[in-house]
Amino acid sequence: MSSNPHASTIVAGSQTHYTRTAVGLHWLIAALIVVALVMGWTMTDMAVSPQKLKIYNWHKWVGITVLWLAALRILWRVTHRPPDMVTMPAWQRIAAHALHGVLYLLMLAQPISGWIYSNAAGFPIVYLRLIPLPNLVAKNPQLAETWQEIHETLGLVLVIVVVLHLLAALKHAFIDKDDTMRRILRWLP
Ligand code: HEM
Repeated sequence: MSSNPHASTIVAGSQTHYTRTAVGLHWLIAALIVVALVMGWTMTDMAVSPQKLKIYNWHKWVGITVLWLAALRILWRVTHRPPDMVTMPAWQRIAAHALHGVLYLLMLAQPISGWIYSNAAGFPIVYLRLIPLPNLVAKNPQLAETWQEIHETLGLVLVIVVVLHLLAALKHAFIDKDDTMRRILRWLP
């Protein structure tokens, strides 16, 4: 009998690639985060108009989509063993794990901070105009100001972490020329 209490719930993936679901979630979430960032930066500078309100709604819906997809992805990650990392110095492996941990946290924290900010500013969220989400906090202008700053700051931290993640990936692809990119780009030869 296995001594690992999680053994029955962890599905061993391929030794070289992430599962198709993990790869799909990775690129879908990455694209949606870029869309949410571009919308966030654009909409806040727009003059008040129906168009601005529309973008605010879409920004919130894209963000909430990131939230539930990230939750799904984390669930998938803890139940499906990722492929072993390529051989690299211990510090790089530790840095990669730490960066991935921060990315998972930000994928949850960034949308939740926007949700709290919206509720504190007095705007309940109705996801896709179909599903009313619970208010996480009551209307409170002072709290709204704090959470607006948190949402803005986390957005910047997210950009920095994503850029570091990207630079690390490019280093593996073009300097180390190892198989790291192939793990998440399954269609590469
Ligand atoms: C991955 C998800 C998200 C990302 C990357 C993101 C990013 C951003 C960014 C970069 C800004 C501009 C901040 C600034 O420079 O002032 C912003 C603004 C905003 N976000 Fe998000 N956001 C996300 C999710 C959400 C969610 C889920 C909500 C609400 C349910 C939300 C509500 C807002 C609101 C209301 C603003 C406008 C703030 C203002 O009026 O100053 N965001 N977001």
